[in-house]
Amino acid sequence: MRRTLQHARKPLMTPRSSRFEGRFALPDIDATETLGRRIAAGLARGDLVTLEGDLGAGKTTLARAILRGLGVAEDVPSPTFTLVQVYETARLPVRHVDLYRVEDPMEIDELGLDEALGEGAALVEWPEHGSGRLPEPSLHVQLTADDARQAAVSGDARWKEFLGG
Ligand SMILES: Nc1ncnc2c1ncn2[C@@H]1O[C@H](COP(=O)(O)OP(=O)(O)OP(=O)(O)O)[C@@H](O)[C@H]1O
Ligand SMILES: [Mg+2]
Repeated sequence: MRRTLQHARKPLMTPRSSRFEGRFALPDIDATETLGRRIAAGLARGDLVTLEGDLGAGKTTLARAILRGLGVAEDVPSPTFTLVQVYETARLPVRHVDLYRVEDPMEIDELGLDEALGEGAALVEWPEHGSGRLPEPSLHVQLTADDARQAAVSGDARWKEFLGG
């Protein structure tokens, strides 16, 4: 009985107090580089970072900045055609994924994201093309480039240490 009661008391949704939300103006590439470095500093094994935004909103540029922040010196091509690129960084392996061209949802399962997150992190562009097959992101970045470029981020509370203030 006691177990049942404890179970019933568990909140159904993550309480808002354990979330982090922030907004960053990205007037130039340098600003994106800075945001990328800050995300890189907080990136840990198991992190799925989703990068959402219209064509040309700056998703690949931010992914590149995150990878640079992790010390990746090699070229970081857009994975639009390859679907996924894998980087062995000093701290953890990172998969850079672009779901724009996914036609068959099976392709998403074949990416083996769950397994990948067991050993490293993933940065996913066009997560809305994921047909609901993606795990819950620990950080979601919404990029806009309408009037001015900006990023709205939301994620676990621990991102406050890296992205807050
Ligand atoms: N903060 C910024 N300031 C100025 N230009 C930027 C900024 N971020 C990205 N850009 C430029 O915008 C263009 C599109 O960027 P990017 O390729 O990163 O977009 P994307 O969202 O990945 O596009 P796609 O949906 O085609 O993959 C590039 O020329 C890039 O240099
Ligand atoms: Mg892109």
